[in-house]
Amino acid sequence: MILAPSLLASDFGNLQRDIEMINKSEADWFHIDVMDGRFVPNISFGFPVLKAIQAHAQKPMDVHLMILEPEKYIEEFASYGVETISVHAEACPHLHRTIQQITSLGCKAGVALNPHTPVSVLEYVIEMVDLVVLMSVNPGFGGQKFIEKTYDKVRDTKALIEKYNAKTKIEIDGGVSIANAKQLLDAGADVLVAGSFVFGAENPTQTIKEMKALVR
Ligand code: DX5
Ligand code: ZN
Repeated sequence: MILAPSLLASDFGNLQRDIEMINKSEADWFHIDVMDGRFVPNISFGFPVLKAIQAHAQKPMDVHLMILEPEKYIEEFASYGVETISVHAEACPHLHRTIQQITSLGCKAGVALNPHTPVSVLEYVIEMVDLVVLMSVNPGFGGQKFIEKTYDKVRDTKALIEKYNAKTKIEIDGGVSIANAKQLLDAGADVLVAGSFVFGAENPTQTIKEMKALVR
């Protein structure tokens, strides 16, 4: 399993320290949440902060764009050497084109789905998608309660991926903790994002180790 701590829950006053903690830990990716105050009711950070993250991050950066018209900014995100760029299906009237845009810039293409959005929106693009991000909370804030219906959605997504023999990974984002991680992995999840559970822990490095140990 791939564990992607969300920097949204890090201490921005000590961002370098928190990034270095992740570098040295058993975590796999940096999950980076970009919010525009329009697609979601919150603003997080933009390019200058991403640049600061890039300067220190030694693991792949997984950028989650919670923004309208992401196609306008994808080229600049790709220029920061990020590995994966995920856009929301709900924010992309021309999702097929936006996926192609991400891939053509040498990044992996992710598509995020809000809790209410059916997996079937991906039926005709799944083979082009590297990562499906299933939102297990309504996007916009860290520290929210996990939506239990997500387990069914993981199974439905897995079935769609298998139907087309696609290589797509499934990422779960929101309210993930050690209490639901195993069940999510058993349902078919490949990547778990954890923000407050990791950064709110007394010993984040140890918490990461315990989560990673779930599948050994
Ligand atoms: C929510 C973000 C999540 C968030 C997860 O809009 O997309 O990545 O940071 O935080 P926790 O793990 O605290 O729910
Ligand atoms: Zn996210």
